[in-house]
Amino acid sequence: MKVTGFNFSPRKNGNTSWIINKILEGSKEQGAETRSWHFNDLDIKPCQSCYGCRQGELRCLVNDEMQKLYDEIEQADALVFGSPTYMGQMSAQAKIFTDRLFAEYHPRFSPQYKERAVKKLVLVFTQGNPDPGLFQPYYAYTKNMYQLLGFAVELQVITGTRSGPAHERVDLDTAMKAVGSLLVSEQCS
Ligand SMILES: Cc1cc2nc3c(=O)[nH]c(=O)nc-3n(C[C@H](O)[C@H](O)[C@H](O)COP(=O)(O)O)c2cc1C
Repeated sequence: MKVTGFNFSPRKNGNTSWIINKILEGSKEQGAETRSWHFNDLDIKPCQSCYGCRQGELRCLVNDEMQKLYDEIEQADALVFGSPTYMGQMSAQAKIFTDRLFAEYHPRFSPQYKERAVKKLVLVFTQGNPDPGLFQPYYAYTKNMYQLLGFAVELQVITGTRSGPAHERVDLDTAMKAVGSLLVSEQCS
């Protein structure tokens, strides 16, 4: 079982990365092989709207480091995508990644939709504001969008990072490891 995490914060050691690592730690404790990627380090262009992916194979023609990530996603049994909330939405890094999924993960309503094994995806948003309801419609929309791409999505929203960084919160340590652990045990059942 392989669980792969993607951090879409520019901060390598910030809240989002800490949460992703805790989830992966929980999976690892259950015997999973884990790997994580810091998207900001990679040379990845936004979608160029060439529609090359619509002509023949479902393959993106932009030859950059996103090609590695397509392979990573394909090879993983479960995924963790983590983004900080910026202006009530996902980060620019997460948006570039998501748009690039258009090439290979057509939504269910698209004629090119390709049935494939459903992968579990833990979608993590961290936000500075303590109110869990503030961006709930956007998070629900985003969860639905990934579901339309064929992922089985579990949403985790971490609030209040403005008043205390995630790594200082003892409750989160246990809770996030449990998310990672469950990801592995549910996958096996
Ligand atoms: C450009 C920018 C925009 C932000 N916008 C929001 C926001 O709209 N709502 C919110 O609650 N927090 C906002 N934040 C705070 C971050 O979401 C929060 O600190 C997050 O935990 C940072 O994650 P990181 O440590 O992984 O980078 C913003 C931070 C930045 C830098």
